Amino acid sequence: MTMWIARTKTELQKHLASLPRPIVLVPTMGALHPGHSSLIDLARKHAGSEGSVLVSIFVNPIQFDKSTDLENYPRTEDEDLNICQSHGADGVFLPEPSEMYFKDLSITVTENLLSEHLCGATRPGHFDGVCTVVLKLFNLTRCDAAVFGEKDFQQLAIIQRMVRDLDLQVQIVPHATLRESDGLAMSSRNRRLTPEQRADAPRIRKALLTASSKPSAEEILSTACEIIEASTLTKIDYLTLVDAETLQPTDKITHSTILACAVFYGDVRLIDHIKTSD
Ligand code: PAF
Repeated sequence: MTMWIARTKTELQKHLASLPRPIVLVPTMGALHPGHSSLIDLARKHAGSEGSVLVSIFVNPIQFDKSTDLENYPRTEDEDLNICQSHGADGVFLPEPSEMYFKDLSITVTENLLSEHLCGATRPGHFDGVCTVVLKLFNLTRCDAAVFGEKDFQQLAIIQRMVRDLDLQVQIVPHATLRESDGLAMSSRNRRLTPEQRADAPRIRKALLTASSKPSAEEILSTACEIIEASTLTKIDYLTLVDAETLQPTDKITHSTILACAVFYGDVRLIDHIKTSD
């Protein structure tokens, strides 16, 4: 079957009218890489051969706190559509910002607890933008389930919380982080690294792996910090131990403690995390 592309809400609704359920959505911002391909594969597994897999590709302006980050976000539409097609997506929703948002957008979703720390602290408004667009995508596609990568574990936790708190009838399906052979977590932002930065970036994973086996919070943080800061190319945005459930900082090392970091290479910000008991 040929994959359809909807660029407007009206086109999307026409396609939805004849779309077999379950509908499984893979929300993305494009610049698709093998990590996204495996999200689409998982969506297909979940939908079954009778169900439908939808991919949304939308660089959501309201989740960017810096206009340069939004402008520089990679856009690779033709390649993205080929990837969706070759992984058996039934349709792609590819709207422009003007299709998604009214100029005077006055109602948005706000998260007040899980977004207090980590990326939420250093990217003000980011998760409100994510929740708002994800809720709109759920409503527009009327999906039964949606697949999200575990790499963005704070995003995943917040979306699960939004489903709980707003009684959304969408099942959230998590997918494990995919990594390059040298350990770097796959991300659309990796393609913006210079060759020198790219060669250095696996130190993030190495730092988390080495630090996570240390016995105390202090040693975990100092070990990871030392390894990341041994490079002249890195700048730590945050390096924090949090409880996996509450996402509040902690100095207690339990089976649910997560070591999370965001590291800048120039203006490219990479995130990763590890369970301290892994
Ligand atoms: O993870 C992403 O790519 C985005 O935050 C998402 C979930 C597609 C919302 O814009």
